[in-house]
Amino acid sequence: MSARENNAPQAPGVPGTGEPTIEEPTAPRQPLPPKPDQGAPERVTPTGAPTDAPMSAMAQQGEYLTTAHGARLTNSDQSLKAGARGPVLLQDHHFREKISHFDHERIPERVVHARGAGAHGTFRGYGSATKLSRAGLFAKDKETPVFVRFSTVLGSRGSGDLARDTRGFATKFYTDEGTWDLVGNNIPVFFIQDAIKFPDVIHAGKPHPDREIPQAQSAHDTFWDFVSLHTEAQHHTIWNMSDRGIPRSFRTMEGFGVHTFRLVAADGSTVLVKFHWKPRLGVHSVAWEEAQLINGADPDFHRRDLADAIEAGAFPQWELGVQVFEDNEEQSFQGIDLLDPTKIVPEELVPVQPVGLMTLDRNPSNYFAETEQVAFNPNNLVPGIDVTNDPLLQGRLFSYLDTQITRLGGPNWNQLPINRPHAAVNDMLRDGYHQSAVHSGVAPYRPNSLDGGNPFETPESEHAFVDYPAPVAESVKERARPQSFDDHFSQVRMFWLSLSEVEREHTAQAYAFELGKCWDETIRTRQLRHLFAIDPALGHAVAQGLGLPDQEPTVPPAQDVQPSPALSQVGSTWPVDGRQVGILVGPDTDTEQLTTLVSRINAADMVPLVIAPQGGEVAPGVVAHRTLLTARSIEFDAVVVATAGAPAHQVAAGMDAKAGAPSPGDVDPRVSLLVNEMWRHAKAIVAVGPGATALQTLQIAQTPGVVAADSAEDALSTVTELLGSHRVWERFPTTGMLA
Ligand code: HEM
Repeated sequence: MSARENNAPQAPGVPGTGEPTIEEPTAPRQPLPPKPDQGAPERVTPTGAPTDAPMSAMAQQGEYLTTAHGARLTNSDQSLKAGARGPVLLQDHHFREKISHFDHERIPERVVHARGAGAHGTFRGYGSATKLSRAGLFAKDKETPVFVRFSTVLGSRGSGDLARDTRGFATKFYTDEGTWDLVGNNIPVFFIQDAIKFPDVIHAGKPHPDREIPQAQSAHDTFWDFVSLHTEAQHHTIWNMSDRGIPRSFRTMEGFGVHTFRLVAADGSTVLVKFHWKPRLGVHSVAWEEAQLINGADPDFHRRDLADAIEAGAFPQWELGVQVFEDNEEQSFQGIDLLDPTKIVPEELVPVQPVGLMTLDRNPSNYFAETEQVAFNPNNLVPGIDVTNDPLLQGRLFSYLDTQITRLGGPNWNQLPINRPHAAVNDMLRDGYHQSAVHSGVAPYRPNSLDGGNPFETPESEHAFVDYPAPVAESVKERARPQSFDDHFSQVRMFWLSLSEVEREHTAQAYAFELGKCWDETIRTRQLRHLFAIDPALGHAVAQGLGLPDQEPTVPPAQDVQPSPALSQVGSTWPVDGRQVGILVGPDTDTEQLTTLVSRINAADMVPLVIAPQGGEVAPGVVAHRTLLTARSIEFDAVVVATAGAPAHQVAAGMDAKAGAPSPGDVDPRVSLLVNEMWRHAKAIVAVGPGATALQTLQIAQTPGVVAADSAEDALSTVTELLGSHRVWERFPTTGMLA
């Protein structure tokens, strides 16, 4: 007779359903069932719907207002009082529950990357990486669900989207083998080489600690003080000062894993790789004046653009690609140290090989539950993808888990719906704040016999993650960095030399703007010296902008630097999906032509936005999406002018400041302002019908990228062609100083 049978039923307290054995169990087996006396909460969502209920029932269900425990309520407008004029009673549970929950509605924002927008989608493997990595998600046509969060770094949660800043590009792959997080940025290099400097660069970039200004920007003394002293930041900084710092859309950003990672194949062979996301729509940015206007007129510009594009069916897509390097002892490529996160390897030297396609096709249902509570972590790796010794990456491996314990209120944030893995979890982690798993069994320890030894260690053949046994060179314990990390300028010069003239002018202007906002002349001068080290023409242009004398370079500009054309965003053409085309209309607009134009723009997967003097229907079935009061040029990638733009009777400067803007001839000042801004920002401007008169009056008719079309069809094909290259680049004025 076994001990259990002997004890039953006289002695309650049987520890589990497993029959312990003398020897440690070694044969893998499923978890044991709970004991017969044990129950568990029904498998329902936090709001009581069965877990297999449709999505729509997952959050709220039923037609009546209830307490958080499902008791129906008769009155949520009056608190329970001792008489109509009496004091409120402690007994009012509904009042206390409602107020207490409200009191706790906010959680701390992320210490960096606080402002973000997210979307769900799918990653489909091409099969091209299966020889390099055994990760199942790379298999041909394998589909893996993903959630992506794009973000800015410096601003707080409510800051404007168009800050000149780095953008986060973090992707959670819910693979069958566990969750893989590729937590990257839209800039391929980082400010620092060692994670121990992260608090320094962030403290310098965040608002000054005394007055807490300026919000969400690097144009201030502490930022430039740090990056001019800590010169390894110069490479990242020039990317920020270029147009890459102000993207047109998340959909037109590249993404980068930044660090070098290691892929491990089924046969155990390894390669080193750098990850790249290539947007199908190409890389595209706004002009600095546009960015400033956007932050005032539509601070949600980027998150709106992402959500609208998905809602409209213009699903954003990126190809994931890898640059592949031999995994040798030096871990360098042609003198570029692959462990130095302030360096890139030019794509002309090592092309990016596509390994899969990501499509974002669903918006979150609830911002807080998904986009705010999602927690990325570079530690989340799957078999076949491993880390390297990049000292920045090594530090990140500690920081994310640590910060999320505070931000998400305890150690169980991985159980939040957006963070739950899609692979089976059997982790022996127990209890803690907000535990929502109801664990059975009595032996969350290893080895055990009471739970039959479950869970077991996994053999490598069963999709186990095995830390790659990378050799560690004989060494001493020291705080040091390799000498190969010492060159802080030659790749900055490479980036500069790779830009077109227009892009260089924008970059020089950005430096002049940002340094011009620094109060301290020493800091401006110190940074100027670095600009002379990057390129004397850049240094001189910025010095002129600041009204400071030319400086001696910190180091002589690097010789024999080859440009990398892939770093410029000018010179190619891309699809126009999801681009916004404004159509300016008035009483003189041909309504038939307008109806055709709207339907053709829609059919071309772009978004037509009709702008009229006032709201309401402007043609049969066509309503005004914007009025001259609500429209601003920044919303439109191109504009079709279908009216001569005579001043509308609604013009009243007191009610619409734009109506007070100067305007030539007989054109409504708001039309004039909109078209002129679009002209200045080098956007396509096309006239149909009476629109040609407006462009004549505004004296822009004969300039590049301003076209009078004969018909709606002609207007559409002109817009499509001009938008393909993103901007009418030749219209940006340049000085010739930086050619
Ligand atoms: C290549 C360098 C880096 C990249 C590409 C990067 C990228 C990102 C991204 C994309 C996010 C936002 C994730 C989200 O959307 O929730 C993030 C958050 C964060 N990063 Fe980094 N980061 C880098 C370096 C570092 C370093 C060196 C540290 C610290 C040593 C660090 C600490 C953090 C922290 C604490 C958060 C907030 C996480 C949270 O609250 O959930 N990062 N990072």
